[in-house]
Amino acid sequence: MTNLIQASELNTMSQLKNDTFLRALLKQPVDYTPIWMMRQAGRYLPEYKATRARAGSFLDLCKNTELATEVTIQPLERFKLDAAILFSDILTVPDAMGLGLYFAEGEGPKFERALQHEADIRKLAVPDMQKLDYVFAAVRSIRHALDGRVPLIGFSGSPFTLACYMVEGGSSKEFRTIKSMMYARPDLLHHILSVNAQAVTAYLNAQIEAGAQAVQIFDTWGGALSQHAFETFSLRYMKQIVSGLKREHEGRRVPVILFTKGGGLWLEQMAASGADALGLDWTCDIGQARARVGGQVALQGNLDPFALFGTPESIREEAARILAAYGSGSGHVFNLGHGINQHTDPEHAAVLVDAVHELSRAYHITE
Ligand code: CP3
Repeated sequence: MTNLIQASELNTMSQLKNDTFLRALLKQPVDYTPIWMMRQAGRYLPEYKATRARAGSFLDLCKNTELATEVTIQPLERFKLDAAILFSDILTVPDAMGLGLYFAEGEGPKFERALQHEADIRKLAVPDMQKLDYVFAAVRSIRHALDGRVPLIGFSGSPFTLACYMVEGGSSKEFRTIKSMMYARPDLLHHILSVNAQAVTAYLNAQIEAGAQAVQIFDTWGGALSQHAFETFSLRYMKQIVSGLKREHEGRRVPVILFTKGGGLWLEQMAASGADALGLDWTCDIGQARARVGGQVALQGNLDPFALFGTPESIREEAARILAAYGSGSGHVFNLGHGINQHTDPEHAAVLVDAVHELSRAYHITE
């Protein structure tokens, strides 16, 4: 009896009213090009700012199941987005490793205990996933609140991008500390990356078990590396994660998206990683990217987030240009090439979402 109830609950849980996003990631036929926006829940929305004020701080918001659910749903109430993304942060993992994450007002993320000494680095270990239970609780709660409306994306930082913050102790322009380590003591950096890769694999698998229907690995700083260093210190560890992920859950494939900002030159190598899709920033032409890798993976992107600072007409033109560059057929998820800027006019985001839905239908007629 219990089993029967659980089975039927699972069934309703997995019935999606709109699976366009998942279908596009798997290059299955769709009626239109789906869209979501990186950082779609954030400070450009007044309702986000109001909920964040109620939570106290950004980290309190991430750790509050009810409020994290609320802010995840907020952009879906405004725009006809085709996916929700878990409200959290990539730095939850190093925080669980004991580095002491905090956000200094106006300065971005910081760690109390940055990893700059060999003894500390040798002590680094994969955290007990129970410390990240608040994230998995948020995933379950968001799935419940979504009630099958659109799929939920889980995410993590790449081992290298996490290491940038862990070693630098916060945001950085030049990455002097981590690059010094990379060239002078590559063994230490490899140790950090290996622990990070194991932690991220466990973390993403736990998100999938909790109900994440696709996962994205954010390699925000991989593009700061030389080609050789990218392969050695970033891609290699992302591949390790991809091969350790649970790829099927609730009877469906769980697609994996790799996003290296500034990675346009390395799409072929990334396409061979085993991921289902690659995220593109705005620096490359999506048509050329498709010609290079389209047979192997789907593509996500590639609007410059600052295109949303144009006029409604120019936003429609940019959307039309990207859709035309990708061309006919499935395998494209529309997105920004990086997070939406906090000063963006929400009305302009609405213009983009509607334009993509309307203008993309012409590219999917024969499917
Ligand atoms: O896309 C979404 O809506 C999901 C939420 C999400 C956040 N961070 C919320 C957030 C996601 C996917 C992230 C990932 C993340 N976090 C990345 C990778 C993606 C990227 O943007 O490159 C990185 C590098 C971080 C680390 C991080 N977290 C930084 C650098 C900052 C400060 C940003 C700033 O402008 O001050 C954060 C904080 C953060 N994460 C905010 C949000 C909404 C703003 C915090 C606030 O409300 O004050």
